[in-house]
Amino acid sequence: MRVLGVETSCDETAIAIYDTESGLLTNRIHSQTDVHARYGGVVPELAARDHVRKLPLMFASAMAESGLSRSMIDGVGYTAGPGLQGALMTGAAFAKGLARALDRPALGVHHLEGHLLASMLEDPAPTFPFLAMLVSGGHTQLIAVEGVGAYTLLGESIDDAVGEAFDKSAKLMGLGYPGGAALSRLVQQGRRDAVRFTRPMVDRPGLDFSFSGLKTAVVNAVAAGYAHADVAASFEQTVIDTLVIKIRRALTQTGYGRLVLAGGVAANQPLRARLKALMDDCGGAVFYPAPELCTDNAAMIALVAALRLQAGERDLVSGFSVRARWPLSELNALHAESVA
Ligand code: KG4
Ligand code: ZN
Repeated sequence: MRVLGVETSCDETAIAIYDTESGLLTNRIHSQTDVHARYGGVVPELAARDHVRKLPLMFASAMAESGLSRSMIDGVGYTAGPGLQGALMTGAAFAKGLARALDRPALGVHHLEGHLLASMLEDPAPTFPFLAMLVSGGHTQLIAVEGVGAYTLLGESIDDAVGEAFDKSAKLMGLGYPGGAALSRLVQQGRRDAVRFTRPMVDRPGLDFSFSGLKTAVVNAVAAGYAHADVAASFEQTVIDTLVIKIRRALTQTGYGRLVLAGGVAANQPLRARLKALMDDCGGAVFYPAPELCTDNAAMIALVAALRLQAGERDLVSGFSVRARWPLSELNALHAESVA
């Protein structure tokens, strides 16, 4: 089955085609960073307008790159939430219109389910069950994944997401927006033990996180005159230490031996290395998507759509709805036998 995926939940316009037999045929991403850079954050209306402009061009280039004719597409998946309402609507309208024109089924996909399952695009792919650490710009969640759609939230950030803490710290240091990757590059020139930040909430039981205090501590360290690279390095170290402590706790609690890292911050190399070492130590395995599949992309959306379309799910033919907010726990669990 060949499924075309469309992702427009925030500031990336992305189209991919996933073939259940042969894998990814094309994976195209256009980032709107230039559109939003001078505002210091994503402007929802500008995001939606740019998606409308780029979608037809991206579709044409994805089709050309795949070498497929339109009749060879068996279904269309799109991100139906969570995300920016207007941005989501542009992708939903495009995907539903395309599905109608091709006379193929369409399916709205949950963006975070895409992130959670993105490492299934890699070889080797993780098998169920596994512990997922989702670290993106909007979410920081530890999730027990028993199968497609069978997700139990074990813990989450009670305030800022990890990516948000990276972005706010980066902005403070004049590294632009979103600055997570730039901050991580600056770390290479800094000392990880230069500033002593307390690791948030690690003394308390449970699996929740909090990163707003650390953000304030970064503001204070910069104001106190520490070198930006030292603050960046110490910040990154504190975030990684905190994640490792909670992940270790969650592995003990669930008894799982597989860890999947997901979301934009999963592109962070020191984090990947630390978690690899952690899982090597305990005889388990860690899985993470290639960096370009960690940040927002349509490949993960096409993958989830393929799994669910194969199991018989589809949108109603008429109309469409998107959800700015959408808890993962509301998804249907697929029965194991319907997942190839
Ligand atoms: O998953 P994603 O692309 O978008 C959301 O759905 O939120 O995640 C984007 C987040 C941003 O906060 C960005 O700064 C962060 O991922 N990020 C990184 C790195 N690359 C992207 N954070 C730390 N280190 C990186 N290398
Ligand atoms: Zn995302």
